[in-house]
Amino acid sequence: MHVDRSGVTITVCPGTTKRGTPETFDPIEISPGDTISIVGPTGSGKTAFINDIEVFAQGDTVTGRRVLVNGDVPPEEFIRDPSCKPIAMITQNTKCLADLSVREFLSMHVSTRRNLAENVIEDTVRLANNFTGEKIVEHARMSSLSGGQTRSLMIADAVLISDAPILLLDEIENAGIFKDAVISHLKNLGKAVIFVTHDPYVSLLSDRRIVMCGGEVVKILTPGEQEALALERIRSIDAEMSLIREKIRVGEIIQEGAI
Ligand SMILES: Nc1ncnc2c1ncn2[C@@H]1O[C@H](COP(=O)(O)OP(=O)(O)OP(=O)(O)O)[C@@H](O)[C@H]1O
Ligand SMILES: [Mg+2]
Repeated sequence: MHVDRSGVTITVCPGTTKRGTPETFDPIEISPGDTISIVGPTGSGKTAFINDIEVFAQGDTVTGRRVLVNGDVPPEEFIRDPSCKPIAMITQNTKCLADLSVREFLSMHVSTRRNLAENVIEDTVRLANNFTGEKIVEHARMSSLSGGQTRSLMIADAVLISDAPILLLDEIENAGIFKDAVISHLKNLGKAVIFVTHDPYVSLLSDRRIVMCGGEVVKILTPGEQEALALERIRSIDAEMSLIREKIRVGEIIQEGAI
């Protein structure tokens, strides 16, 4: 049986907090094109939340949450067969252990999939290079890529080769990738994107914000127009910070008047 992955809606149902008390949020529905950020202090359960989605939790994780697909228990195929799985997760620690070139690595992945575009490898590298300042070349060894290059390649791979409709990104903002470019690209493609973040600008770029505390979803915000003006201001602060970061990287002294 083939299960269509493209139109999947995921529902996250409440579980228990770290204290063992029941969570009280209304089930969270995630549909194609949604952008959701997960915020909260260190240790508040952000990674645990996206892990629940990644493994299609059925009350069998530390949080006791359940994750439904199109309102039902997920099809066996989604869990058993990686090529059917509608979810790609990219974390801070995503690394490639195999000593392959970029082209060999992508070819290996392509060979497990069907119906891909002819130039999918070139397209994947090109897309990844839109997300990172340090260009990736096809003959580079996977193990020699920087953190930012690896993450960019994994995102491009998830989009073009896995073609996953749902992407989970765990704190990728400090990886030296163009977060604006990544988020707008994924949004335009109608992907559902859920990102754990400590970055104010990235948080405000999403349509919905899930606030975690003590292993519990404590708030679900949909700020909409309320934050439109603040978003513009934070965008310019963020651009300024990026410029300063770049200057520091190339060894400049930062003086008050130059900011
Ligand atoms: N609802 C819960 N019930 C029991 N344990 C939980 C729950 N939520 C999270 N935990 C556990 O709490 C610990 C911290 O959670 P997690 O790693 O998800 O935090 P985080 O918000 O991602 O933190 P950081 O910002 O440092 O990455 C983990 O060991 C996790 O398994
Ligand atoms: Mg975490």
